[in-house]
Amino acid sequence: MRLVLMGGSLRPESLNARLLRHLAIRLEARGHDVSSFTGEALRLPHYEEGLAPSPETRTLHEGLQAAQGLVIVSPEYNAGIPGHLKNAVDWLSTMKPSPWPGLPVLLCAASPGAFGGARALMAWRATLANMGALTLPETLTVPHADQQLDGDGAATDPRTAAAAAKTLEGFLSLVARLR
Ligand SMILES: Cc1cc2nc3c(=O)[nH]c(=O)nc-3n(C[C@H](O)[C@H](O)[C@H](O)COP(=O)(O)O)c2cc1C
Repeated sequence: MRLVLMGGSLRPESLNARLLRHLAIRLEARGHDVSSFTGEALRLPHYEEGLAPSPETRTLHEGLQAAQGLVIVSPEYNAGIPGHLKNAVDWLSTMKPSPWPGLPVLLCAASPGAFGGARALMAWRATLANMGALTLPETLTVPHADQQLDGDGAATDPRTAAAAAKTLEGFLSLVARLR
């Protein structure tokens, strides 16, 4: 299946980018066609009516157009969506054809905090519903991610690792059903 992963913060040491890379490797190992958008690929100009999309924005749009499923790995900033990711989503919502209606989405987050970024994912849910995307009810969150993620982005806590595997399976089943 053609899957896109999008997320992480703009900082090179991003825990969410580390988790994203780990998920991308797992999905590729299972034979899926994976494209990742993270770091500099998400440093887009601020959305402005009348401003033409940048080449990077068009590349992201093309990636999502071709995707059968999207995995978002989002940091939590002040209980919400970080600005660079919301900006990317706003660009994508204005471009034709919109990639969002009917697109299955898995929401993931990693945070050093105790809630693992779960509050940002609630904000994501509202935004994605507004655009017609189909968000999997289950999410993947990694609390205390500064301690819980190893260097390759895998969860060191066995319960979190097992939950991650189960959630990924649920997402792949949803994508397969909607394909
Ligand atoms: C402006 C700002 C707001 C933040 N707000 C939250 C928050 O509401 N909840 C939380 O768990 N972490 C919060 N954090 C901490 C981030 O979760 C932490 O910096 C995390 O490492 C960011 O993700 P990254 O590692 O992918 O860059 C915030 C960080 C920043 C810079």
